[in-house]
Amino acid sequence: MARWVYIEDVAEHVGEEIEIRGWMFNKRSSGKIHFLQLRDGTGFIQAIVEKSSVDEETFKKADSLRIESSVIVQGGVREDKRSPYGFEMDVNNIQIVQIPTEDYPISKKEHGIDFLMTNRHLWLRSKRQFHILKIRDEVIKAIREFYHSKKFVLIDTPILTGAIGESAGELFSVKYFDLGKAYLAQTGQLYLEAAAMALGKVFNLGPTFRAEKSKTRRHLTEFWMNEAEMAYYTSDDNMTLQEELVSYVIQKVLERAGEHLAALDRDTTPLEKIEPPFPRVSYGEAIKLLQKKGFDIKWGDDIGGDEETGISEEFEKPVMVYNYPRKIKAFYMQPNPENPEVVLCDDMLAPEGYGEIIGASERIYDLDLLIERIKEFNLPVESYDWYIDLRRYGSVPHSGFGMGVERLVAWICKLDHIREAIPFARTIYRIHP
Ligand code: 4AD
Ligand code: MG
Repeated sequence: MARWVYIEDVAEHVGEEIEIRGWMFNKRSSGKIHFLQLRDGTGFIQAIVEKSSVDEETFKKADSLRIESSVIVQGGVREDKRSPYGFEMDVNNIQIVQIPTEDYPISKKEHGIDFLMTNRHLWLRSKRQFHILKIRDEVIKAIREFYHSKKFVLIDTPILTGAIGESAGELFSVKYFDLGKAYLAQTGQLYLEAAAMALGKVFNLGPTFRAEKSKTRRHLTEFWMNEAEMAYYTSDDNMTLQEELVSYVIQKVLERAGEHLAALDRDTTPLEKIEPPFPRVSYGEAIKLLQKKGFDIKWGDDIGGDEETGISEEFEKPVMVYNYPRKIKAFYMQPNPENPEVVLCDDMLAPEGYGEIIGASERIYDLDLLIERIKEFNLPVESYDWYIDLRRYGSVPHSGFGMGVERLVAWICKLDHIREAIPFARTIYRIHP
């Protein structure tokens, strides 16, 4: 009996009779030979069925295979330097699991993005998507590793929440039994702040939701965020942690997912430069820089997508723009003691035009000031009773941040649009499949 081997492991089985269980994504044939292009979820290989070396029935089976047929094939593996995969299989037996009765909708021809997104459940099988999803997997693995290596504790924050996390305009609400409305979490931050007072250094990694009507290539309505929260960290400590995190993730992806980046034709030179320290530019300096570049912007204005690109173009590494005016940032940010009109915060902007990948700040820890800000932002103080409590019992300065996983993946893979960085993208126009 041939042993079932995954394609990614065939190198260890050269010269052996093995079994591959997968799908045929393409086929080239002549009268005497079929070249089956197989994939099994771990890799790709060419399997050769030669009329002269298999029985008639096996050759007929190979003949009948259509694109995306599911098959189990057995045969010998050999190294092949000319093959793009490095190995080939000489088939001696085929077991058909299923043959599609219709033509597979995705072919080699160019399809429009709308068609591909409508067929996302099938598009996932394409090579390009395979490589992107493998990189995403490495990114998430590296994020978790980074925190655990620094002795952070994972805290899974809730998705159904009773309070507004970031801003009232971008909430998805659901009916919640007799308790009125619940909101899908925009952030886990407030809960991480509670956990940081219990466990010191904490992080989460999970889905978050924004009912933003943004149609840009950087916005999803459901995206994955990694957040961290650290008791006794200043905004400076916070920025140092962020540059370490981003550098760690990039270095690990380069180390472990190089073949996938290469398959996407990603030039890795810009990524190889990503190591601490990252440039830090104050909001005021950023405004001046933008004005010098011809942007119509003044102190107090928010920095939008085009402006972000304008700033990051000036640097090879991600740049941290710090201390924004308090009026354009969230209610919980700690004022700068030297100038209370700005808050101790930073946004990290990725190079190559990928925009904001991290939003961060020191948090208000003074009880009265926090209550004042909640009121100033017209938020319901009652919903924040527990959050306010954190300032009542052993309140300490603390800081944290949130990093958008899809924006990071989009940058690392150099994707045109964030929708390919998540298995099933949710945008204002799409909830299906
Ligand atoms: O800057 P944001 O809104 O920050 C927060 O939510 C904080 N509470 C985080 C914290 O301090 N714990 O979001 C953080 C990051 C952004 O920098 C961006 O990378 C990503 O989340 N993000 C989005 N990604 C995709 N689609 C969207 N609509 C996004 N909105 C934010
Ligand atoms: Mg932000």
